[in-house]
Amino acid sequence: MIKAQRGTKDIFGEESLTWQWILDNAKNVFQNACFSEIKTPIFEATELFARGVGDSTDIVNKEMYTFCVGGAQKDSTSITLRPENTAGVVRAFIEHNIVRQSPPQKFWYFGPMFRYERPQAGRQRQFHQIGVEMFGIKDAAADAEVIMAAVNFLKSVGLGNLEVELNSLGCTKCKNDYKNSIKEILKPHLENLCDDCKMRYEKNPLRILDCKDENCQKIFELPEVKEVIMKDYICDECSSHFEQVTNYLDSLNIKYSRNKLLVRGLDYYNRTVFEIKSSLLGSQSAVCGGGRYDGLVEMLGGQPTPAVGFAMGVERLFTLVEKIQAQKIDYFVVSSNTIEAMKLAQKLRQENKVADFDMSARKFAKQLEKASKIAKLAVILGEDEINQGFYSVKNLENGEQIKISTFEELIKI
Ligand code: HAM
Repeated sequence: MIKAQRGTKDIFGEESLTWQWILDNAKNVFQNACFSEIKTPIFEATELFARGVGDSTDIVNKEMYTFCVGGAQKDSTSITLRPENTAGVVRAFIEHNIVRQSPPQKFWYFGPMFRYERPQAGRQRQFHQIGVEMFGIKDAAADAEVIMAAVNFLKSVGLGNLEVELNSLGCTKCKNDYKNSIKEILKPHLENLCDDCKMRYEKNPLRILDCKDENCQKIFELPEVKEVIMKDYICDECSSHFEQVTNYLDSLNIKYSRNKLLVRGLDYYNRTVFEIKSSLLGSQSAVCGGGRYDGLVEMLGGQPTPAVGFAMGVERLFTLVEKIQAQKIDYFVVSSNTIEAMKLAQKLRQENKVADFDMSARKFAKQLEKASKIAKLAVILGEDEINQGFYSVKNLENGEQIKISTFEELIKI
């Protein structure tokens, strides 16, 4: 038997109802806030992610599904299954010159993403994200608008009490100052950091702060190290931007806390970064991650354009929301005359009713047994009903059976 690949999952039956419900809510909430849907391809040029997400990140270094198409031909290209969607949306934004439309340009999306990670609860190799990206506004109102969209969506699926964790990475200069200080204070401890952090030390020192390794955590707790980590490195302008974001969130009654260790795993962020977590998710606790990325559009070849967005993991949301139960269908047509049963099911469906019938003309008793499991009403089409033109309708909840003479009456029950 061929099985699904590790870290992938089939979604069907009742699970797909809950998925559908999550998506319907996303569509409502984001479209009410004037985000329009964008669908971008599932694979892109590898270079887009190497440059966009950053070639010092775990995603680009270890987790991409990259392959060459075109074999040994001269024009063979390296393509990658998207590990995230911000880079793809930015590519589309530049390619279609969307910058010409008056800002803000606001998009939402849903779709599968691919990361070659070690599968565990809440971490898959193919997973799905719902996200938004907004372009053109540098003011703190944009950060708050995007966080508000995330919180409103979570409320709509019954997760209104999750707290937003917030931090500011500052601008390029602030980020560099911070990186240098972190490197300096950690230099004497380099030998005791985990192997990943030893690599990060040169390539991406801020990511060290995100390390969950016990020994690394102990080093971060040393008073002289903690002092440097906790110090504010952001300049006055970035500080004031951050304060404005928090003022907006206060006015909107959105609960948040400052997490100075929140640095995010992708390179494109500046200023505001945020995550929304749930302790019920265990070690993979983030449902949502996002932030501002004012330099990415220019870095990928577009005009300088401020931008901010987030993405949520749908599989993680799924474990938190109440599951939707399958409802019984409206009508099941019970008949040994398959053509008449099929014709009646067709007529009912055209009236927007949920109807089914038995395709192999099994015995009446078998058909009724099936109907009582899945339907509210059984419409019995025996020889008498067909010849004399009426319907026998059995209410499968209370067992009552009545005669109905017209189709119009049948659809009103
Ligand atoms: P991210 O933090 O890498 O950010 O992913 C966002 C969310 O996707 C995570 O919080 C998590 O819920 C979910 N997720 C990530 N990896 C996995 C996985 N292997 N299995 C299951 N769920 C996962 C981004 O992707 C950015 N593009 C977000 C963004 C948009 N920033 C600005 N705009």
